[in-house]
Amino acid sequence: MTQINSAQAANALLLNQVIAAYSRTDNARWNVVIESLLRHLHGFVNEVELRPEEWWTAIDFLTRTGQACVGPRQEFILLSDALGLSSAVDNLNNASLAGATESAVTGPFYVPHSPHIENGGSIALAGEGETVLIRGRVLDTAGHPISAAELDIWHTSPNQLYAVQDKNQPEMNFRGKLRTRTDGSFAFHTIKPIAYPVPVDGPVGQLLNKGGRHPMRPAHIHFIVSAPGYQSVTTQLFTRGDEFIDSDAVFGVKDSLLIDYQRNTDRSLAVDWVLDHDFVLAGPSAG
Ligand SMILES: [Fe+2]
Repeated sequence: MTQINSAQAANALLLNQVIAAYSRTDNARWNVVIESLLRHLHGFVNEVELRPEEWWTAIDFLTRTGQACVGPRQEFILLSDALGLSSAVDNLNNASLAGATESAVTGPFYVPHSPHIENGGSIALAGEGETVLIRGRVLDTAGHPISAAELDIWHTSPNQLYAVQDKNQPEMNFRGKLRTRTDGSFAFHTIKPIAYPVPVDGPVGQLLNKGGRHPMRPAHIHFIVSAPGYQSVTTQLFTRGDEFIDSDAVFGVKDSLLIDYQRNTDRSLAVDWVLDHDFVLAGPSAG
């Protein structure tokens, strides 16, 4: 006991030295962030009385996480997502104004430069599944339509892989950008998304397995909705009733983002399902 007490006293002294070494710059925000980070890291080591072999395990895990970030694969974003940290940052920084569409994490599979499509077009280039027409409007918080708002859309193919993960898919499969019409409306066709597993062949997969967690995400579609002068929102729409809706591997689900696809009853539409959904942007932003 005496030995532990003296070790903790030494570590308290050590922590003060480390904080002093890093947190006295002329950047006030840096000083706040680095001091807090150091306090939590050192506090964690002291609290669990971290053993050398555990420290090596952590170093090895983080090393392999970095090594897994090859090409478009972003294992560190996935790690942040799987620990709930991405959603925590999202919650802090995207508290939506009353009535605006809530945000959700970007996830590791976003790729910029999706192709522009016309309203009424399709983002499904390859893949078999149930067809869906997704249509709605982009509105401001007063209910006024926003014309020429951009929707940047991406989701998995029916084989549960994003195009960026799968060389056998067209590069732009299930990705697209479109702009709202003058009345704020938009429409596009795709294949109804299904639940999919996050990649489990890397360190994050091992982490999920160690925690006794499944790797599944409930079916969802990602959107970034933006318009000049408004606060853009990065979000996801989740299929209500999906079996993984309460156990999302990356903790991204919010009640306001649950949507209900309707069986198509309009014989003039050659689709299996229809989803009517409006997005609401806050703003104009103060900045
Ligand atoms: Fe996703």
